[in-house]
Amino acid sequence: MCGIIGIIGKAEVTPLLIDGLRRLEYRGYDSAGVAIISDKKIARRRAEGKLNNLQKLVETDPVSGTIGIGHTRWATHGAPTEANAHPHSDGKVVLVHNGIIENYQDLRKELAAEGHNFETETDTEVVVHLVSSFIDKGLSPRDAVAQTLKKLHGAFALAILFSGHDELMIGARRGSPLAVGYGDGEMYLGSDALTLAPLTQRISYLEEGDYAIVTREGAEIYDSDDQSVEREIKLTATSGAMIGKGNYPHFMLKEIYEQPAVMGDTLQAILNPWNRTVTLPDLPFDPTHISRITIVACGTSFYAGMVARYWLEKLVRVPVDIDIASEFRYRDVDLPAGGVALFISQSGETADTLAALRFAKQQGQKIISLVNVPESSMARESDLILQTKAGPEIGVASTKAFTTQLTVLACLAIGLGSQRGSITKETVAGLCQALTEVPTRANDVLVHDERLAELAHEIAEARDVLYLGRGTGYPIALEGALKLKEISYIHAEGYAAGEMKHGPIALIDETVPVIVVAPSDELFEKTASNMQEVIARGGRVIFMSDKAGIEKLGNMAAATIELPTVDPFVAPILYAIPVQLLAYHTACIKGTDVDQPRNLAKSVTVE
Ligand code: G6P
Repeated sequence: MCGIIGIIGKAEVTPLLIDGLRRLEYRGYDSAGVAIISDKKIARRRAEGKLNNLQKLVETDPVSGTIGIGHTRWATHGAPTEANAHPHSDGKVVLVHNGIIENYQDLRKELAAEGHNFETETDTEVVVHLVSSFIDKGLSPRDAVAQTLKKLHGAFALAILFSGHDELMIGARRGSPLAVGYGDGEMYLGSDALTLAPLTQRISYLEEGDYAIVTREGAEIYDSDDQSVEREIKLTATSGAMIGKGNYPHFMLKEIYEQPAVMGDTLQAILNPWNRTVTLPDLPFDPTHISRITIVACGTSFYAGMVARYWLEKLVRVPVDIDIASEFRYRDVDLPAGGVALFISQSGETADTLAALRFAKQQGQKIISLVNVPESSMARESDLILQTKAGPEIGVASTKAFTTQLTVLACLAIGLGSQRGSITKETVAGLCQALTEVPTRANDVLVHDERLAELAHEIAEARDVLYLGRGTGYPIALEGALKLKEISYIHAEGYAAGEMKHGPIALIDETVPVIVVAPSDELFEKTASNMQEVIARGGRVIFMSDKAGIEKLGNMAAATIELPTVDPFVAPILYAIPVQLLAYHTACIKGTDVDQPRNLAKSVTVE
């Protein structure tokens, strides 16, 4: 995945491109580059590493022009070096690419045989040479691009400029998103509306296979059959304001602390605290006739789905299947008539989840997407959109998106259960009451920040860390381990506490901290036994529980974190917070790049 931007306008374009790339850094940050048509010639500036390096480069070696493209990279093919950084060019054509050209090796062989020289290890460079080869054969830039697109397999969003042409930019997409922005005598291309938000609110999204011929006056859009098509221009509500860290040292910490507020915002849209009911948007299916719910997601969003499975099975009484998107989409599974498929994604753009959504749609499932970005591809392709009100999440490790996903999913389970009559009004009222208290209880959890920062010193020394939980505590254990891996680079594993005896118990000794997520719920005694098994083998337990749990077992653990006493239904939402903070402080002690950890990106738009 990568982020791309293109501008054809009136003003000096380099600072606008750099500003746009800042908004795209969540898509990758291992190198960045811009290309400008300056005096009709292609001028490129590219730098390895973070965007600041490119910014410094264009300050010391400026380039002038009013038409340009930019790219921020997450390496797929070829190391993150300056040579492999986009834009790629052969001197005649220059372009930026998000996606993967799957048949690049065959194309490269063909083009090399025709005498084209390749300078990079990327898949992208073949697109440059293909376009150029068609131009050499006498085709116009537009026809050369149209012919090139027909030869490409895989996923791409492209923005292309041509030497000698400062009046033309071409964009194309298949698989990866691309938006066209409409300004006043200026036109834009961008991976998303956020990139273009400071430039224009008027956006149209290209559809699969579309390409756009963009000039300062407007855009002509063609579909994959080269037919001229209209794509609706929408007014985006995305704010152009750059999000700051405020007084926090990192976005991640700021976002952890925002959780009580954004959980409240999320609840406000869906839960009525006065009559203690949930109001779901109009359902595109009959809730009393759901045959199965299939949940699909990636990463942290997948763990939110795992928690939801427990809730939905219990409250809605429907079989629930869950899988990670990259596996689900290739399982070749038959989905049942009357099935509902739920896709969970902060960005709404994750390539595997989007592909899984399309597969489920083809199989006749009603599609619900739970996204934080309401204009995202997944939202646009769904029958029902549920929205988290987390606001922009900048830290690559997801925090507030996760807990707001859980908040909405809890409401979904209550809402569907109530509409199906599988739970009583009293149960609905009780669960809603528990949910309305979550933002306040989340504030109570944040009070433990300092203590967690102390405990992080022990974690930072460890080579391996285990997280254990049962029931809805199990996905929280998985999420805790994922957070620690992502940002501190310490190996960590989450395990179902009852499964520990089938393998991970062999790892236990005094050097492996074991974090036990154990609210006093119906499974508490079972988790407690597993914790005893750890302690009996010399393991050092950090025990996260409530007052009752700590009274029972706290003195056996090496350390305890006492979390608020709540209805076990909402416990996973609250227990997510201390595992986030523990990972955060551990990463700070280790001195890693908390907000932009190595090798990761926030939105993964490649398979
Ligand atoms: C990346 C991010 C994770 C995120 C996952 C799924 O791996 O680093 O934080 O959970 O993608 O992203 P999505 O936008 O679909 O929730």
